[in-house]
Amino acid sequence: MESKSNNNTSKARILIVDDEESILEVMKMRLELLGYEVETKLEPEKALEFIKEGKEIDLLLTDQKMAGMSGQDLMEACLEVDPALQVIIFTAYGTIEQAVEAVKAGAFSYVTKPVDHQDLAHKVEKALEKRALLKRVADLENIVKCQFEFTDMIGNSPQIKAVFKQIVQVAPTDSTITIYGESGTGKELVARAIHFHSRRCKGAFVAVNCAAIPETLLEDELFGHVRGAYTSAATSKDGLFRRADRGTLFLDEVGEMSEAMQAKLLRVIETGEVKPLGSDRIFKVDVRLVVATKRDLRTMVDQGKFREDLYYRIHVVPITLAPLRERPDDILVLMQHFFKKCGEKMGRSINRIEGDVIERFLTYRWPGNVRELQNVVEYLVATSTNDTITDSMLDTTALAQEDSGKRIVPLREAKDEFIKKYLEDLFRRTRGNVSQAAKVAGYYRADFYKLFQKYGINPKAYKIKGKTIEADKIA
Ligand SMILES: Nc1ncnc2c1ncn2[C@@H]1O[C@H](COP(=O)(O)OP(=O)(O)OP(=O)(O)O)[C@@H](O)[C@H]1O
Ligand SMILES: [Mg+2]
Repeated sequence: MESKSNNNTSKARILIVDDEESILEVMKMRLELLGYEVETKLEPEKALEFIKEGKEIDLLLTDQKMAGMSGQDLMEACLEVDPALQVIIFTAYGTIEQAVEAVKAGAFSYVTKPVDHQDLAHKVEKALEKRALLKRVADLENIVKCQFEFTDMIGNSPQIKAVFKQIVQVAPTDSTITIYGESGTGKELVARAIHFHSRRCKGAFVAVNCAAIPETLLEDELFGHVRGAYTSAATSKDGLFRRADRGTLFLDEVGEMSEAMQAKLLRVIETGEVKPLGSDRIFKVDVRLVVATKRDLRTMVDQGKFREDLYYRIHVVPITLAPLRERPDDILVLMQHFFKKCGEKMGRSINRIEGDVIERFLTYRWPGNVRELQNVVEYLVATSTNDTITDSMLDTTALAQEDSGKRIVPLREAKDEFIKKYLEDLFRRTRGNVSQAAKVAGYYRADFYKLFQKYGINPKAYKIKGKTIEADKIA
């Protein structure tokens, strides 16, 4: 017998509930012959337990009149667990009105007893078609949501590609993730991508910056309070752990947490329970933790500034985002991405970027990383008067400062430049005293002469009347 499937990959699963064992047996046999996978329960309470355990059922067939719980009550309780579940109610002639009520309350259809098996087979097939459709829509919505979240993260460098791979690998697990990286490298973006690639993606993503909130408020934010817990607590508050239940909690700047808060966080991680301030109730929470820091937590542990036990709890899967200056392959694609995005946002289109601009973007150190690059692009688009970004437009940005915009020179040239500067500095500080300068530089006097002559330096130009500084005082 060909098996009926709900989504082309597995058999559709049906749960039948009736307090008459003989009816259950006959119906199970007939439906199995039609290619479905069938579970049966004699008691509605057991059926509800089965669904609550998370067993995947596509269709519930239930008698309307049963001891303990009516078919409709069972249906309503099951729909709370799985709103896409399909339900068909069996009803005797005397209770048709109740069956109609059940359909109004969300059942797919009803079948009168004694059961006409052809009628039942037809309705079962239709109900399962509806179920498959609903599931496909939900899957599609998820795919769109997840892809959107990931396609917004751009990168071409081997480092960022490795991070993308790590995200896909670790997201479906429930492991705690620690994201390391300088400010503006995209830590929060990674945290979001992890959430949207996980089975929790329908749940909440709750972010909190531990450095931005004073300690006492942070505790209140994370764990909540009951009404009257302190003078100004006029209403109760759930706290972010409970808001993130079945979702992901992102704790940014976790390295800035005080010791007392670290201890409280450790307790929640260990027990999976939170106790709001002033409450005697304890709440179980199912939260996946993602934390981020720009500090080196291991060093903080060694310095006694971060609890070692907490470190081991959160440092389960570390993800490191390299500074932008160490992944120049990302600069061009990020530039393109932000010019397009900002252009669309501001209703301007930039069609030309001068070569020097690109080169200066590629050689700048980007201390503020991707966020800084995004800001510079936004500034350039906002101040552009036509569709071209010219070199001179960078003069008012951080890229104009220091050597950041300079071309990279051959190593020998850079070395010569360095030695010349070094010698000038040395003679300035030794007031042009050749013996002393040679000693500090670690050269024999004769060799030292050759060296500074090669660089066209005249020590006399640095002579100042009066004392010279002692060689060992020169830093
Ligand atoms: N790979 C990327 N692709 C696209 N946009 C990015 C990328 N990385 C970072 N950004 C953007 O740069 C900005 C900073 O990113 P994010 O807030 O995630 O950084 P962060 O590491 O959390 O910074 P901070 O330490 O300051 O909180 C955001 O606007 C983000 O969208
Ligand atoms: Mg951040």
